[in-house]
Amino acid sequence: MAKVILLNGSAKANGCTATALQEMVKIFDEEGIETEIIHVGNKDIRGCVSCGRCEESGKCVFDDLVNEVAPKFEVADGLVVGSPVYYASPNGTILSFMDRLFYSTSFSKHMKVGAAVVSARRGGNTATFDVLNKYFSISGMPIATSTYWNQVHGFNADDVKKDLEGLQTMRNLARNMSFMIKAYADAKEKYGEPVVERDAFTSFSDGK
Ligand SMILES: Cc1cc2nc3c(=O)[nH]c(=O)nc-3n(C[C@H](O)[C@H](O)[C@H](O)COP(=O)(O)O)c2cc1C
Repeated sequence: MAKVILLNGSAKANGCTATALQEMVKIFDEEGIETEIIHVGNKDIRGCVSCGRCEESGKCVFDDLVNEVAPKFEVADGLVVGSPVYYASPNGTILSFMDRLFYSTSFSKHMKVGAAVVSARRGGNTATFDVLNKYFSISGMPIATSTYWNQVHGFNADDVKKDLEGLQTMRNLARNMSFMIKAYADAKEKYGEPVVERDAFTSFSDGK
């Protein structure tokens, strides 16, 4: 059975972001896709310190939720990251988590489907959305989209329940993501995975 992990970057387990993710879960259930919502924003997650220890061990030197989620992400077919908008950016906790999750893990994320979801009272949504999508777009992860940018509006969960277009966007996003996961599974059988070249690693124009 295909599985999608949904990360809630908010400290509120039943806030606006969670309401958006729960709307997606209803569709994943209908589509026969297993889900797990993981609350990240209520944990004490520090940022990456660029120590490089993960290059030898394949896991983060700080043994917290990042290392718990990593093996789940490795076997998952899709990852949804949700965040409230804080000063027109994702909140600090989810950024620290995503930096460390993506940097410390060496398993292939290639062709796992990603989706970013943001919740704002009023503004800064698309800037936040762009930041979160960057984790997927550097990892060979196809990004699921919807009928609007993946956002809901509200200061609390009751507001989001009144944001009918926002909830519709979440349902369509989950349907599109489900389709992509199923289609990629079929395509892998039929065509195999695309080759990934990784030999070149250049930081300067002379290639050194
Ligand atoms: C520190 C902080 C900064 C915020 N910055 C913004 C912002 O830039 N734009 C906005 O529309 N809402 C902002 N908000 C409001 C939240 O993004 C908004 O209420 C969100 O939907 C809450 O989601 P949650 O219930 O999942 O935590 C901010 C809230 C906090 C606590």
